[in-house]
Amino acid sequence: MKISVIGVGYLGAVHAASMAELGHEVIGLDVDLRRLERLSAGESPFHEPGFPEILRRGLATGRLRFTADIDELADADVHFLGLGTPQRADGFGADLTALDAAVGSLAAVLPARAGVSTLVVGKSTVPTGTARRLAGRLEQIDGVHLLWNPEFLREGFAVRDTLEPDRIVYGVRDPEVAGPEIAMLDAVYAQILDGPDRPDRPEGGVPRLVMGYEAAELVKVSANAFLATKISFINAMAELCEATGADVTDISRALGMDDRIGNKFLRAGVGFGGGCLPKDIRAFIASAEDLGAGQALGFLREVDAINQRRRVRVVDLAREMLGTLRGRRITVLGAAFKPDSDDVRDSPALEVVSRLMAAGAHVTVTDPEALENARRRVEGLAAVQDTAEALQDAELVLLLTEWREYRDLDPIAAAQLVSTPRIIDGRTVLTPSEWRAAGWEFQALGRPD
Ligand code: UGA
Repeated sequence: MKISVIGVGYLGAVHAASMAELGHEVIGLDVDLRRLERLSAGESPFHEPGFPEILRRGLATGRLRFTADIDELADADVHFLGLGTPQRADGFGADLTALDAAVGSLAAVLPARAGVSTLVVGKSTVPTGTARRLAGRLEQIDGVHLLWNPEFLREGFAVRDTLEPDRIVYGVRDPEVAGPEIAMLDAVYAQILDGPDRPDRPEGGVPRLVMGYEAAELVKVSANAFLATKISFINAMAELCEATGADVTDISRALGMDDRIGNKFLRAGVGFGGGCLPKDIRAFIASAEDLGAGQALGFLREVDAINQRRRVRVVDLAREMLGTLRGRRITVLGAAFKPDSDDVRDSPALEVVSRLMAAGAHVTVTDPEALENARRRVEGLAAVQDTAEALQDAELVLLLTEWREYRDLDPIAAAQLVSTPRIIDGRTVLTPSEWRAAGWEFQALGRPD
């Protein structure tokens, strides 16, 4: 089958290369010429384990190529929409400019094919109502059908999440009559749907759920809202722990042993960031308000507020430990919004860095992958690649992204490098007793002094 992917950012690029990996002929379209050049040269524009390999394999077999010319993909059977829907500059809602423009350009080149179906498949995270609106536009062309197929991939696991997802969701206009379109997308995903054998799926295969457009749109945002809520819930418990002297990691462990709660996304710390969770919950709130159902998501404002407070709390804790921030030398371990990623969008670590710098501290940041992006975001950032060099002469160390190498730091060796052994564990990943035994003044969010 001939497939196009429109918008080859994170989601689209991974999807395009994954579809080529399944054996399809794939063409990726974007307006960013530099990105197309890099992808065509087999160079990944972002840090994502396993992606460079499938990208290069796709290019080498000739199954994958990239273009800026929309005419080249007019004859594809299936068009995936992988465009970003960032937070609007003027408010909480999602900016659909790129998505709308892409659908407009696609509609202008799609041929009417009597008797042959063309599928357009939306993958972007969108406000409820978007799919039905776009379908109204696209389905005026004979033979064209729109499906909404939200993407649940995580950065750092993007290839695996695409090729071995937990579930696949198809949103259609009317589940009763969408048989032919569903069969067509099933054919694209046939190998994924067969799925590898997993102990948790004795009957085999990946569950594929068909529902209306609105439900499919909502599944995606509600999944992210639930994950964000889980993180802010444990961070709210961390605030209580700070008021009572309890240890939030004891609470996470005990809660997580209840199967109904589950142990994932219960790690307290400096909170969630990245290109999805923060902007998605805000767009969800805005969309609910537009629909007249704002009250239903009032709690998400609190989820956002708790998340923001944790960033401020780290800065306050640093000030408490040092007396003043002005002129003090602080080393921050981590710039990415999470480990195994070079993404610094809405990174809690970088926001803390900016606040410390604004308060007059001399901040040095280190990160294995994200320094280039961090430098672009924060003007005048002092960034050092080597961890030992970054620790040199620090009066306070903050661990804000839990890369393996920071979790494995030897407190005895590290104490030799800094000027005063003081540390704040902003991700609750270090063992306080080990650090204290090595002479460190140790503080962690949600853990006792
Ligand atoms: C998230 C979702 O997990 C994906 O399912 C979704 O497809 C994606 O957004 C998206 O909408 O595109 P991602 O942004 O890659 O994926 O990051 P997560 O792994 O969800 O982590 C988000 C943030 O939560 C990170 O800053 C992480 O440090 C933080 N986090 C995570 C915690 O603070 N505590 C935890 O226990 C877990």
